[in-house]
Amino acid sequence: MNRLALLTSGGDCPGLNPCIRSVVRTALAGGIEAIGVHRGWRGLIDNDMEPMDARSVAGIVNLGGTVLRSSRCPEFREAAAREQAIANLAERGIDGLIVIGGNGSLRGACELSRQASLPLIGIPKTIDNDVGGTDYALGFDTAVNTAVEAIDKIRDTATSHERLFLVEVMGRDRGFLALEVALACGAEGVLVPEMPTDIAALCAGLERCREAGKVSSIVVVAEGDDAGNAYEIADKITAQSDYELRVAVLGYIQRGGTPSALDRVQGGLFGKAAVDALVAGETSKLVAKRNGETTLVDLELAWKETRELPAHLLELARVLAS
Ligand code: F6P
Repeated sequence: MNRLALLTSGGDCPGLNPCIRSVVRTALAGGIEAIGVHRGWRGLIDNDMEPMDARSVAGIVNLGGTVLRSSRCPEFREAAAREQAIANLAERGIDGLIVIGGNGSLRGACELSRQASLPLIGIPKTIDNDVGGTDYALGFDTAVNTAVEAIDKIRDTATSHERLFLVEVMGRDRGFLALEVALACGAEGVLVPEMPTDIAALCAGLERCREAGKVSSIVVVAEGDDAGNAYEIADKITAQSDYELRVAVLGYIQRGGTPSALDRVQGGLFGKAAVDALVAGETSKLVAKRNGETTLVDLELAWKETRELPAHLLELARVLAS
């Protein structure tokens, strides 16, 4: 391995910069050149890349976002676009690629590695924490903490005014973020895409809380819930209850901001493990965290394996809401 390229693809999240820093410095320490690809797959197709040295990643361990920039690139699903990317990599003498992405981007990485003979390693990231094959994806911990900080503030208003708040968090397909945030905030309810939402049962549960003396309620709603978005769910609750109800959509504040210590350290571990894997001759692997250890699994698991929402955490949220 003489020269590797790295890119960040898909939605940004905190932890990308510590991971980029780790890839670059680990590569350089092993005598390998590091080439940064700008704007994810887009930059690979457009041949938009530049060499990175140790100083080019100085002062970024504490920054949100990605210094390499990112994009969503539907064009990469076409074989011709991937062919162009492969030609650009070959022309630059790049003999290994590290892709830091969510399950969509890692699926693209699988396609690329099938089409090219180029060694390729994936690193999981997304605040949704829904990449298969790994217990953890970069960005999740910071996003949980950001949402918890916001909801703690919302709780002050909810209690002062004796209100019910529906707080929508991200999670297009999965409820990992919503569940963790609900637990950490002591929410009275949590709605996730994995479970059918029963508005009558939700209202009955909130009513029990009120009868037990609670003066405010918070329900955390994952944006992909089957009953609709938080505003639609609010209308349904209002139609069958007398709550003074407000909605707060946390939105993109969950994707930005200073990475937590956990995301910085995990970014460092994932970045080094990816470079080590390339040096060891591995390809089509995902760097993963499993049972507390950083390890390698088949890249295909990233999008083929569906992680279960932990049933014991759902049960804990239910019991503690009483
Ligand atoms: O990164 C995943 C995610 O946060 C989803 O939960 C959300 O639906 C999506 O990104 C929105 O991303 P964008 O608007 O940047 O495409």
